[in-house]
Amino acid sequence: MKCGDIEIGNILLAPMAGVSEVGFREVCKLAGADLTCTEMVNAVALNHDSAKTKDLLITSSLENVKSVQIFGHDALEMAKAVTNSCLSKFDIIDINFGCPAPKIVNNGDGSALLKDVNKIYKIVSACKNSTNKPISCKFRKGFGAGDNVSKDVARACEDAGASMLTIHGRTRAQMYSGVVDLEAIACVKSVVKIPVIGNGDITDFNSYNKMLSTGVDGVMIGRGALGNPNIFASLKNKAPIDKMELIERHIRVLREFFDERFVSATMRKHLLWYIAGEPNVNKIKLDVATKDLNQAIEIVRSFLSNNG
Ligand SMILES: Cc1cc2nc3c(=O)[nH]c(=O)nc-3n(C[C@H](O)[C@H](O)[C@H](O)COP(=O)(O)O)c2cc1C
Repeated sequence: MKCGDIEIGNILLAPMAGVSEVGFREVCKLAGADLTCTEMVNAVALNHDSAKTKDLLITSSLENVKSVQIFGHDALEMAKAVTNSCLSKFDIIDINFGCPAPKIVNNGDGSALLKDVNKIYKIVSACKNSTNKPISCKFRKGFGAGDNVSKDVARACEDAGASMLTIHGRTRAQMYSGVVDLEAIACVKSVVKIPVIGNGDITDFNSYNKMLSTGVDGVMIGRGALGNPNIFASLKNKAPIDKMELIERHIRVLREFFDERFVSATMRKHLLWYIAGEPNVNKIKLDVATKDLNQAIEIVRSFLSNNG
């Protein structure tokens, strides 16, 4: 599958703020994710040269195609961000029209834009006009409970020049509750010519096949990959990578780029995901959450090796 002229494959890792940092993206690529994307980056912060924002733009050498996601509500700020030299290494620019977090929505960003399809058109147009790179757009099906503006949003993005769409089949009001609306996703696929990626609740072959039954060109996986980068291997019928090998690689990448404080806080979260669902996990959870990171890693290593 292509985004613009760029071949990207069809099983994608979702952008996840505070989760899909460069180390996690690298292990997901290693396990078979076709395309990964940075977590969302504030266009205004980017335009103001924020150092913290630049950390979000670190990429892995395994990311052969690089995608960055930006958010904001002002078309001019967004278009300016697209031309920022910090984004020059990226091949694809993704725009966030789905984030449900109150602090984002209250600023008129993310899913708040689903209330104004015209504004979405203006933002995508402005971004498209400021770059030759393909623009992709990621959105939810609507804002309020029961809303479904997904067809209008899809058409607006395509008309404004977007090369690919991702739809998460939930409203903002649902946050992450309820089930994903596969019918809405199928409708989006039927009204545009550009590739459509289906997103929401893919955790195994069954949910993957259900998503594919909507006719989408590709799928995007978020929470199903937490602690389980091998979901990509399994959906591609590839041999899984040893979990401890993934963990060690994940930490190594983080240590390459970040200070130990950040690595420790970030990796502890991931370690708890990596061991979730393992038999007798409760015995080590507290230690993993509280001990020094090197000790926590050794606890996980011996736990996984005992579990076979
Ligand atoms: C912790 C977390 C952070 C997220 N951050 C982003 C983000 O930065 N940009 C974005 O477009 N979506 C973000 N999302 C939404 C996911 O990309 C995805 O659309 C959603 O989780 C549904 O897919 P899933 O059921 O496979 O998890 C986030 C989701 C989670 C759980």
